[in-house]
Amino acid sequence: MGVLKVDTVTNMLRNYFVGKDQKFIFEKVDIESFELPNIQETNLYIHIPFCKSMCPYCPYNRVLYQEEMIGPYITALLKEIEIYAQKLGRVTISSVYIGGGTPTNAIDELEDVIDKIKTCFNVVGDIAIETTIADINEYNVQKLKLYGINMISIGVQSFDEKYLELLGRNYTSEMIKPALKLLKEANFDTVNIDLMFAFPGQSEKEIMDDLKKANEYGIEQITAYPLFTFPYSSIGEYLKINKIKMPKFFARRKFYKLIHDYFIDNGYEMTSVWSFKKNNIQSKRYSSVTREDYIGFGAGAGSRFKSQFHFNTFTIAEYEKRLFEDKLPIAVNMPISERLSRYYWLYWRLYDTRFSIEEFNKYSDWKMKTLMKIFTILGFCKKNENNYFLNERGSFWIHLAQNYFVLNYINKVWSVMKEQPFPERIRI
Ligand SMILES: C[S@@+](CC[C@H](N)C(=O)[O-])C[C@H]1O[C@@H](n2cnc3c(N)ncnc32)[C@H](O)[C@@H]1O
Ligand code: SF4
Repeated sequence: MGVLKVDTVTNMLRNYFVGKDQKFIFEKVDIESFELPNIQETNLYIHIPFCKSMCPYCPYNRVLYQEEMIGPYITALLKEIEIYAQKLGRVTISSVYIGGGTPTNAIDELEDVIDKIKTCFNVVGDIAIETTIADINEYNVQKLKLYGINMISIGVQSFDEKYLELLGRNYTSEMIKPALKLLKEANFDTVNIDLMFAFPGQSEKEIMDDLKKANEYGIEQITAYPLFTFPYSSIGEYLKINKIKMPKFFARRKFYKLIHDYFIDNGYEMTSVWSFKKNNIQSKRYSSVTREDYIGFGAGAGSRFKSQFHFNTFTIAEYEKRLFEDKLPIAVNMPISERLSRYYWLYWRLYDTRFSIEEFNKYSDWKMKTLMKIFTILGFCKKNENNYFLNERGSFWIHLAQNYFVLNYINKVWSVMKEQPFPERIRI
């Protein structure tokens, strides 16, 4: 199906389910008159965009680490947290997620950031961070523990030297085992590793070898993403130039089943369409994306309130400039109707692969109920008296929807935001 046709079908579905009054357009924000909604409780995301190597496949807002960039960025970040606290008051924070980039590139400065959050808000939940194998050393691990960070996720991506090289990672496969050992000894509540699969030319055996290694090392939570080739990333360019083919639909279908079945047969349970957790272990479930509301601090961070979704400018210099003028760095905003909000809820609950029927009944209209009936008839899910459960087949289709969502929506917004600090409008 051509791009035009896919867009037409998407529009029809959006109009049918969400209604024509919901516009899928981010518009430039006039920061002088922009208001934040009143809230009592939310989650926080903090973006630290510095990386010591620029992985060619990476779509995130990141820049090459230079020591002198850290100070001004953190000063701006602290200011941003303060302005939000002045506007919203001492909101309760159910979870904090520090992501990037590679946040541990500002390991010493993270202390001030976490202190500031705790002084400005009422933090009651977990504090999670993501980083890379190259940054796991005794100094960093000690600091993270000292700051009260209790969940950690490490981008391992693959145990195979060949793919670490293809991905432009700045560590070798030999460094992975000692790094994971160090993390285990540090007793975080949760350690998750990210793996990637569906590399061009990757065989089933190679995927299985990666999964076996993760299992052998006793990793409790594993998130396995298929490689997304964002058109604007340099790997997107590279694959185009070299005419390298990504695995086709049926290969992906097979890979997904292989991964799912391997984990289930080895005592893991599915905690999202991409994540698996050892089911005899009490550790908390690690998740980075499924929260419904959050405030994002940092260059390029998104914030989701019940009634709106906004993005900060991606450009670090503009981000800092705004904050040094005591103004929020919000660039674009999209109002969210009550109906869209409910579908957004369903989307993330399907992503979680299970949800309570009681909650579903609270959120759903007849169209949503019909949708779940169709999913049940298609054999994607089943329910008991309390919950809906997605099975492997259903999870695969949600995983495909996620691919589409990530590549279409995120790609559209991020690719424009990377080019223009304050775009006039972005239609998604
Ligand atoms: C911000 S990174 C994690 C922390 C650290 N910067 C790193 O790379 O190890 C978040 C995760 O997104 C996943 N990721 C990044 N780009 C991706 C892509 N193009 N396709 C699929 N997964 C991707 C990787 O598994 C990565 O670990
Ligand atoms: S994948 Fe991670 S380390 Fe690599 S550039 Fe992206 S954020 Fe940085």
